[in-house]
Amino acid sequence: MKLILTLIGCIAAVSALPARFDGHQVLRTYPTSAEHVEKLVALGDTYDFWSTPKLNVPTDIRVDPVNNALLRQFLTKLGIKYEILIKDLQKRIYWESKSMGNSVNAAFDWTSYHSTTEIQNFLVDISAQHKDISEVITIGKSTEGRDLKLIRIGANGGTRKKAYFMDGGIHAREWISPAITTWFVNELLSNRNKYTALLNQVDFYILPVANVDGYEYTRSSSRMWRKTRSINSGSTCVGVDPNRNFDVEFGGPGTSSSPCSEIYKGEKAFSEPETKAIRDFVVSRGKTTADWKIYNAIHSYAQMILTPWGYTYDLPADYRKMRDLGDKAAAALKAVHGTQYKVGSVTEILSAGAGGSDDWAYGSGNFEYSYTIEVRDTGAYGFILPPQQIIPTAQETFQAVLTMANALI
Ligand code: ARG
Ligand code: ZN
Repeated sequence: MKLILTLIGCIAAVSALPARFDGHQVLRTYPTSAEHVEKLVALGDTYDFWSTPKLNVPTDIRVDPVNNALLRQFLTKLGIKYEILIKDLQKRIYWESKSMGNSVNAAFDWTSYHSTTEIQNFLVDISAQHKDISEVITIGKSTEGRDLKLIRIGANGGTRKKAYFMDGGIHAREWISPAITTWFVNELLSNRNKYTALLNQVDFYILPVANVDGYEYTRSSSRMWRKTRSINSGSTCVGVDPNRNFDVEFGGPGTSSSPCSEIYKGEKAFSEPETKAIRDFVVSRGKTTADWKIYNAIHSYAQMILTPWGYTYDLPADYRKMRDLGDKAAAALKAVHGTQYKVGSVTEILSAGAGGSDDWAYGSGNFEYSYTIEVRDTGAYGFILPPQQIIPTAQETFQAVLTMANALI
């Protein structure tokens, strides 16, 4: 009897454990022809692409041990060159968790990655210490009922001001994004005296974890989850790519109609409560106290400052203006730790992906400038960026953010 109970206990414990990625590899492939790109795109529903295929740009693909040989055969047959970027993903995940301190009951910090609750409590706590220049606003709820909390930072609350909106954590596994956006919050408030002129004239609205359900899922169940956690009717595959769910050329290039794809666009634009909450907040706030100027999405990984468009190869009307400021921001970023960034439009230097928050922000006419910053690294660690890199990544990215915001005053 005791043995049976122990066994049942073990099974229960095992089923609650997160997914493992033993022997999973990330292959970096080099598509050098239109056919290569086309063939890789066709694999998008089967494999986990860490970047979207584009001609003469490396495409990173995660593959499990069972399909490893098959994928390599396929690549070889097509003449697509590849190399191993990450040899054993589980080892990386293990070291990531090992190198994080046990943060339970510890003060909030930037030496490890934190839960949504810890992050949102941090926003509430720090805002309480700076009530005169900040407030926490719940802009909606996720599919699973979690609050979506952002913080507004800026003096003269209640008056109409130039405003900067930042979305973090749209993609669940890009843990560096919530980590550095909370660092920005801390920097702006704890060192507020350094930013008096800026905060007098500009309001920052920072949403560190936009995809709260997905983020929690990466912590509890599967580190590599990207999408939301909404149920797709008629499919066993869960989730929508929130950065394909905004409304500019919905379903355009770089999106998928398959619920099993990592870039599934969803049933319709703003089907996800998380994207809808951002849109509704932006639109309604724009009618009152926010004079929206800059929209800034924070993702990983690529080390790029991207302007619209993501849905077309055409450049937007304000490209020159956005590009010039992007170049300045990249220079300021590089001056901190020497980290090199590329600057350009999404389709020009990354790859197409319609339905992004950046395209919507600019295309809807709500914002004058729109950027997606893809932070560290360029693939050595990819999404599993060691927590030791949180602070340096935050420090350098913050200079890019400041450069952009200072252009408004
Ligand atoms: N890695 C981001 C994504 O795939 C890039 C976003 C760039 N913007 C865009 N509209 N695709 O969503
Ligand atoms: Zn992303």
